[in-house]
Amino acid sequence: MPSFQPFAVQLIREDHEALATVLGALRNAVERVGRSGQAPDFDELRAMLFYLDEMPARMHHASESELLFPKIRERCPALHPVLDRLEAEHERCDCAVRELAHALTAWEVMGEVHRESFQLLLHAHGTLYLGHMEVEESYVLPVAADYLSPADWRELAEALAHQRNDTDPSMTQGHRALFARIKAHPSLQK
Ligand SMILES: [Fe+2]
Ligand SMILES: [Fe+2]
Repeated sequence: MPSFQPFAVQLIREDHEALATVLGALRNAVERVGRSGQAPDFDELRAMLFYLDEMPARMHHASESELLFPKIRERCPALHPVLDRLEAEHERCDCAVRELAHALTAWEVMGEVHRESFQLLLHAHGTLYLGHMEVEESYVLPVAADYLSPADWRELAEALAHQRNDTDPSMTQGHRALFARIKAHPSLQK
C-alpha cells in the first residue's frame, strides 16, 4: 500500500476505526457491569448499539457494496470469492445487530439473568466484525491499491463524496455527535 492513501481508502479506514471504537466501548461497558455488579446504563448501551446499527447499515456498507467493491470486481476478478463473502457478511451483520437489540431489551425488561446471553452474542458479533474489517484492510484494500488506476481512485472519490453528501446532513451530523458522546463514555477511559 503506498504511503499516500486514496480518499476511498482513508474513508473506509476511518469508518472502521469508529466502528471498532464503538464495539470496544460496548464490550467494555457490558464487562464493567458484570464485574462491578452496578446497574447498567441502558440508555448508553442502546446508544452504542444504535450507532452499530445505523453506521454500517446506512453508510459504510453502502459505500463498500455499491461503489468500492464493484470497482474492485471490475479490476481484480481473483477477488470475487472474497468480495462475495464480505457482502454476505454485510447482510449477516444487519441481522446480528437486530438480534443484539432484541437481547438488550430482554436484559432490560427481564433482568440480569439475560445479561450473559447479550454478552455472548456481542462477543460473537464483535469477533466476526473485527475479522471482517481486518480482511478488508489487510487483504482487499492492498490488492485493490495494486490494480486500480489513479483514474479509478478519482472516480471512486467523486462517487463516495457524492454518496455521503446525498445522505441527509442531519443524519451524518447526528452520527458524529453520537460518536463523540460514545467516545466520552467512561468505558473508554482508562
Ligand atoms: Fe465490509
Ligand atoms: Fe468495511
